Amino acid sequence: MQFFGRLAADYEAMFGVTLESLKGKRVLDCPSGPSSFVAQACAAGVDAVGVDPLYEHGANELRQRCMDDIAYTVKSMATYEGAYSDLDLQAYADNKRAALELFLPDYEADRAGVRYINASLPTLPFADGEFDHTFSAHLLVTYSDPASGGILPNSPFTLEWHIAAVIDLMRVTRGSLHLYPTTTRTNPARRHPYIEEIVRRIETKNLRSHHERNSNADNMGVWKCRFEPSTYQRGDASQNYLNASLVIERQHHSH
Ligand SMILES: C[S@@+](CC[C@H](N)C(=O)[O-])C[C@H]1O[C@@H](n2cnc3c(N)ncnc32)[C@H](O)[C@@H]1O
Repeated sequence: MQFFGRLAADYEAMFGVTLESLKGKRVLDCPSGPSSFVAQACAAGVDAVGVDPLYEHGANELRQRCMDDIAYTVKSMATYEGAYSDLDLQAYADNKRAALELFLPDYEADRAGVRYINASLPTLPFADGEFDHTFSAHLLVTYSDPASGGILPNSPFTLEWHIAAVIDLMRVTRGSLHLYPTTTRTNPARRHPYIEEIVRRIETKNLRSHHERNSNADNMGVWKCRFEPSTYQRGDASQNYLNASLVIERQHHSH
């Protein structure tokens, strides 16, 4: 699992949102990693919080881990003949390093641990409906098993793990939950089967997990799914028509 992250501008492209539109909102980024989303969003007046299990470590350790992971990943992408042909790998690495340099000072400044929380899916330490919007990029789908279209051999992130993770992300979200990517890392790309199953279960009100704490589907409320076109470059331009985030939106009924 790679510990590197992207810039706020990349989040805007992935999810089709602007920091401006999130101003004054309470927003969760999970996983946040060494992405600069939280730092840049907070600077723009967003009440943003990031979650990652590696936040148990100090800034120096995270810097080293991130630099190593960027170098390793770019090297393996350069030798991979698959879906990355449209990517400028130098720009890809520069982008991750730029995000790290914005992340680290903000991470170090957060001594009270209110913006960067050490926790992991599928069990988040937040109240029900605490966030107006939740963003989750490059963990779900991406790190599923290659047999399902992800990149992590022997992945612990099974379909049931994905279902439990989405249920807890929905639980802490009052407005909308946004997931990216939604396609496989195959050439050609397809809609990821776990995304199709998540949508199917939400639409048939059948979203239950083996995770006991979350097993009461009746308390979940009413949600709608839609795909939002994304302009984020994944390196597989031939599949751009499938490039989208999944928006899972809570339906608020007026009385
Ligand atoms: C590639 S980064 C994505 C960062 C950012 N969202 C982005 O798109 O740039 C994936 C992150 O997932 C974190 N992670 C791994 N297992 C996790 C879990 N169970 N719950 C939450 N985050 C996890 C890793 O530590 C890593 O920082």
